Formats: sequence, C-alpha cells, structure tokens
Amino acid sequence: MDLLVVDDESSLRDFLSIVFEEEGWHVEAAASLADARAAVQKHEPDMVLCDLMLPDGSGIDLLKEIKAQNASMAFIMITAHTSTQSAVEALKAGALDYIAKPFDIEELKIIVRKAVERKELEDENLHLRTALEERFTFANILGKSAKMQEIFTIIQRIARTNSTVLISGESGTGKELIARAIHYNSGRRGKFVSINCGALPETLLESELFGHERGAFTGAIREKKGLFTEADRGTIFLDEIGETSTAMQIKLLRVLQDRVVRRVGSNVETPVEVRVIAATNRDLADSIQKGTFREDLFYRINVIPIALPPLRQRREDIPLLVDSFIDKFCTTLGIARKRISADAMRLIEKYHWPGNVRELENVIERMIALETSEVLTTKSLPEQILLGGTIPDATFDLPSEGMSLEQHLESIAKIFMLKALERTGGVQTQAAELLQMSFRSFRYYAKKYELIPRDSRQEDVVEIDTEK
Ligand SMILES: Nc1ncnc2c1ncn2[C@@H]1O[C@H](COP(=O)(O)OP(=O)(O)OP(=O)(O)O)[C@@H](O)[C@H]1O
Ligand SMILES: [Mg+2]
Repeated sequence: MDLLVVDDESSLRDFLSIVFEEEGWHVEAAASLADARAAVQKHEPDMVLCDLMLPDGSGIDLLKEIKAQNASMAFIMITAHTSTQSAVEALKAGALDYIAKPFDIEELKIIVRKAVERKELEDENLHLRTALEERFTFANILGKSAKMQEIFTIIQRIARTNSTVLISGESGTGKELIARAIHYNSGRRGKFVSINCGALPETLLESELFGHERGAFTGAIREKKGLFTEADRGTIFLDEIGETSTAMQIKLLRVLQDRVVRRVGSNVETPVEVRVIAATNRDLADSIQKGTFREDLFYRINVIPIALPPLRQRREDIPLLVDSFIDKFCTTLGIARKRISADAMRLIEKYHWPGNVRELENVIERMIALETSEVLTTKSLPEQILLGGTIPDATFDLPSEGMSLEQHLESIAKIFMLKALERTGGVQTQAAELLQMSFRSFRYYAKKYELIPRDSRQEDVVEIDTEK
C-alpha cells in the first residue's frame, strides 16, 4: 500500500517515512501543497498523512481536491494542538481522522491502522452492496426455454470455481449479462472489470490490460495500473477476444499460464489472482482455421464454454422478454403499464431478430415512446418487423432427414416476394410486376405468408403468459 506524507518540516517527513516503511508501507513524501498535488497525481496513494499548515496553503484544500477526485483515498490530518476548529473542519471535509502535534508515534500508528481497517470495511460494504444489486439482476436474466435453463444450471455450478469461461453468441444475446452473473455469484471479493478488446488499437490495449510505467512511451506521463491488477481477487471480462492480434494473444496466453502481469516498460512481474471470462461473437474454430486466432490460447480460455443461442432459436422466451421490457420502460417513464396487441406480438414472435435481445429491447422502447394509447399495436412496429415477419431460411442443402419440398418452395417464394417489396419500398403493385404476378395473387400470397400486416384497425390484446 502507498502512503503519502505531506509536511514542510523535513525532519518529521524523514522520521514518518522511516517509521511507516517499517510498518510495510511504500512511502512518498512531499514538502508543500504543490508537491503533494503532483505526488497524488503520479502515485495515487491509498492514504495521505497531511500537515494542516503548509507554506503554500492549507491541507484542507488538498483534502477537498482529493475527495472530489477519488473519494476512496484515505486522509489523515495532522493539526496543531491548539486548533480543534480545523480538526472538525477536516473531519467534515472527509478526513478519516486527525492527530494533534506534538504526537506520540505509537498513537499515530494506531490511528493509521484503524483508518486502514475502516477503509477496507467501507470498500467491502460498497462491494457487497453492488454485489447484492447485481445478484438481483441474475434473477432478471430471463429465459424459460430449455436452452437458457441449461445455461442457468451451468452458471450456478461453475460460478464459485476459478475456471476460465468462454461465452460465445451473436451480438445482443446477453454475453455481458451472463459474465456479470457469474462474477456476482462467485463470492469473489475483488471487482468485475470489463474491457472490449476489439475497441482499442494494440498498444493501447496492452497498457490498459497490463498498465505501464511512467515514460514507457510518449504520452505516458504517469504510471498506470492495468485492468488485470484492478481485477485482482475479482473477475476480468475480455469482451470480443476474437478481435485481438496474434501478438496480443501471445501476451494473454502468458498471463493465463503464469498468472503474472508485467507493466509496459517494466521488468518486474507481479502475480495476479484473477478469474478470466472471455466472450466472442465470432466462431473461434473458424478463426483458428484461418490463422487469426491461436489454438493454444483457445484451449486455455475454452475451459468452460457457454454458447448463448440466438433469440430466434428460443422464441418461447420472447413473450417473457417483451413483458419485462414493457414493465421496465413504463416504470422508468412513470406511466401506467401498457399492453400489447396480439397482432404485434405475433409479428414480434416471428421476426428473426438479428440483433437479438438488445434489438428486442430497443423495439419495445420505441413502441412505448410512439404509442399514445394504452395498447402497443403493429402501427408502432419498425418496418423491418412488419415486412420481415417471416424470414424463411431456405437453403439448397438437402438435409439428411429429408424435407418437405412444398414448404421449401414456399420459403423461396417468400424470399423473392420480400426482396421485391424491399426493392420497391413496399409498393405492392410494383413488386407484383417485378415478379410477373398479378397484383391480386401477389396480395393473396403476401397476406397468406404474413409479409404484410393484416389490416385490422382493432387489434386484439394479448395476455402474456409469463410463467417461468
Ligand atoms: N436473458 C435476458 N434477459 C433479460 N435481458 C437480457 C437478456 N439477455 C440480454 N438482455 C439485455 O439485452 C441487452 C444486451 O445484452 P448484453 O450487453 O449482455 O449482450 P452482448 O451479448 O454482450 O452483446 P454485444 O455482443 O453486442 O456486446 C442488455 O440490455 C441486457 O440487459
Ligand atoms: Mg457485450
């Protein structure tokens, strides 16, 4: 732990440095407010021991500045014994404690130790509080489909282990949600730290993950802790791990193998105790084939694979999700809970949801914003859902178990009708022409295949079965 001693008297500074180094602290010292500010920026100490009267101002000012920036930095004020007034002021401004000069060093040691204990307790309480809130979220990962139920069982079984997890799934399937659920059910005391590996260029990613020394590269004006260190005793979530360069993959492999990190520009390796959860929306097996993902790293991270199915493969979860999103957005807006029409629900259940749960969530939010009445109808559904109510998955593979040719021909007809509608911006007469059909038969099939909504002014309201 880092301690910063601020006092203009050099003998006291040296004395306190020696005493607290013996106590196991790493001590930095500053003689003025200006020096102290620089030291706080550079070292981010865990605790500051500061004299009230400094040549260039009051220690209270430093205390206020620190509290505004980093509320968890502990602060102990050293005051002249005559000024109880300032001591009170310091406590009000957020100092953990104070000691009056001249003091007994044993007494100061006790005050510092107590302050550490109190700070640890506070940090832990904060962590427990967020953990409680997040655990509640775990109950909010919805899914009654067999596939999701299976995933819940896996999470419960593996949360308390330290095994590395690889979550795969299309965008918006809930990968981050699952990662958090694992962490907050793990009983791990450290933080959950998340980073999107695809969002940063390689050099930046490296210093984010492992930290860097001051001056390690241009622009590294102060030393920096890496995310692995920040996640010590907790969990690091490496999102989009498939986007990393192979050079980066080698570095990650080393951390996973040896459980040590080295800051950029440093020779020192520090051990870390971190649970790793990685996620990808790519097929890593495919990337391995192509040579863009290292097989050795794959085996390191793929200890517990969790494959999140796309929403279109678990349509029975859709009503549940719709219901909870309606609830959520109406509550946020402080309006009465709206209902949804049976027609709108039918189209929602049929849509292929390329953006998965996130897309569904956005659609419901939009419907609630657009609809003034108490019922959400097809009117407020976005066009792609109205038109693409049924995206057939016609292929030209003959499945081993055989198939119905008639249904397949229907699928192909749907694809071309949708394409025609898309090209003509939904104008049916033109779409019919493009396909050399009469308007009447185009309209007949478009209705039959539900490519266009049934036009009913009065839509029935659906009662959602939310039993899990
Ligand atoms: N099973 C679920 N129950 C309730 N909400 C869910 C569920 N799955 C996902 N969500 C919600 O959908 C949104 C997207 O989830 P999340 O960010 O975890 O997806 P992701 O797989 O990480 O997506 P991306 O690959 O785009 O980063 C979030 O708002 C999340 O709360
Ligand atoms: Mg994500």
